[in-house]
Amino acid sequence: MTHRKLAPGKLIIASHNQGKVREIRALLEPYGIEPVSAGDLDLPEPEETGTTFAENALLKARASAEGANCVALADDSGLCVAALDGRPGVYTADWAERQWFEGEKGRDWYMAMGKVEGKLAEQGPDVDRSAYFTCTLALAWPDGHSEIFEGQVHGSLVWPPRGIMGFGYDPVFQPNLQDGNHDVTFAELDPEAKHAMSHRADAFNK
Ligand code: IMP
Repeated sequence: MTHRKLAPGKLIIASHNQGKVREIRALLEPYGIEPVSAGDLDLPEPEETGTTFAENALLKARASAEGANCVALADDSGLCVAALDGRPGVYTADWAERQWFEGEKGRDWYMAMGKVEGKLAEQGPDVDRSAYFTCTLALAWPDGHSEIFEGQVHGSLVWPPRGIMGFGYDPVFQPNLQDGNHDVTFAELDPEAKHAMSHRADAFNK
């Protein structure tokens, strides 16, 4: 199958998640691409009604490509925990959903990490703590063409959370590092170090 190449120029990052937008901007830097986020353009955020990462990534990329008449890139990602049969998976962001005051909805990542840990704890102290992050990138062109790329990073979950960098579930995820050092979480790594090995970087390389 021949892939369509992305030409240098303007590209919409079809995301309203600041953590993701920051990482995607850094990963695009070497390619002569000028990223503009969907949030900056006030493009609507479609509901993620898909049941797979690819469906949701395409849904977001297509909405922005059509809304701005420009190539758009979306990322749908999540944390898959072995002992939880791959959950939260495609529902990773939903596990962080909570009601704030006056019924306003928001996301609480510490609550979500606690939920994962609670479910692991139910399985006893010897539970398998291995997990991976997965990232599906969808590129959509205004003429309807699209391309999909997937990347993963394997590691294990720690408790309590450690580190202040990154976003989402980074403080509980320790990647399996090639040099045998397994003691740092993604939230304790410099952004450059995370970008050299993350699921997002793996998908970007493809
Ligand atoms: P969605 O792709 O917007 O549906 O949400 C995926 C969720 O997975 C994010 O909101 C994060 O909580 C989590 N996630 C994805 N990538 C990462 C990462 O690199 N670090 C930590 N959490 C991540």
